[in-house]
Amino acid sequence: MVSLYDLFMRPLEQRGIRKARRELIKKACGKVLEIGAGTGANVAHYNADCVTDVTVTDKVVNKHLANKHAQLITVLEADAIDLPFDDDSFDTVVHTLVFCSIPDVDKGLQEIKRVLKPGGKLVFIEHVLPQKQGWRRLFRGINPVWRLFSHGCSLTKDFHKSLLDNGFDLEENGRFMNTVFFYGVASVTPI
Ligand SMILES: C[S@@+](CC[C@H](N)C(=O)[O-])C[C@H]1O[C@@H](n2cnc3c(N)ncnc32)[C@H](O)[C@@H]1O
Repeated sequence: MVSLYDLFMRPLEQRGIRKARRELIKKACGKVLEIGAGTGANVAHYNADCVTDVTVTDKVVNKHLANKHAQLITVLEADAIDLPFDDDSFDTVVHTLVFCSIPDVDKGLQEIKRVLKPGGKLVFIEHVLPQKQGWRRLFRGINPVWRLFSHGCSLTKDFHKSLLDNGFDLEENGRFMNTVFFYGVASVTPI
């Protein structure tokens, strides 16, 4: 059965998110951790030739994720700001459309840094404040009401800046759908 979230997201998936997932998620390699996996929209896109194992986590594990994918991957309940893994555990961390709902973005990014092995990669898609002034004003205007009905999802985050502030280097990045969506591959800046 299709989840309500997947039904709601279908038009946006068709307009670009699915293509971005397809192109990006195949770049995850080795031991992979996905954060905030939701209903498991990325699971089908992992590259079996490159990935050795996938652990997916969410603050609240969705029954669609647990039922559909539990045989293929490890599914765990975990908060992104307090991950139950040792330092240097994963080759790739993946998150898509998650940091909009995490109040302490810096803490979440520091946790990712901690669990990534040296040389590991972060693969992400997030929605952010768009670049055009008119859209920025609109997003800022509707954000207070939007947050009430979307489990605290914020439309106004600058995830690009957060990555740089937290010591990540962008190896590739881009925007799509009127610059609302920001995607990329990042690695930890060498000290
Ligand atoms: C908009 S959904 C995105 C789901 C999926 N990643 C996708 O691309 O369709 C956001 C997900 O992030 C999860 N989430 C929110 N805050 C979280 C946190 N602090 N730690 C882990 N997961 C979190 C929510 O439970 C939800 O499943």
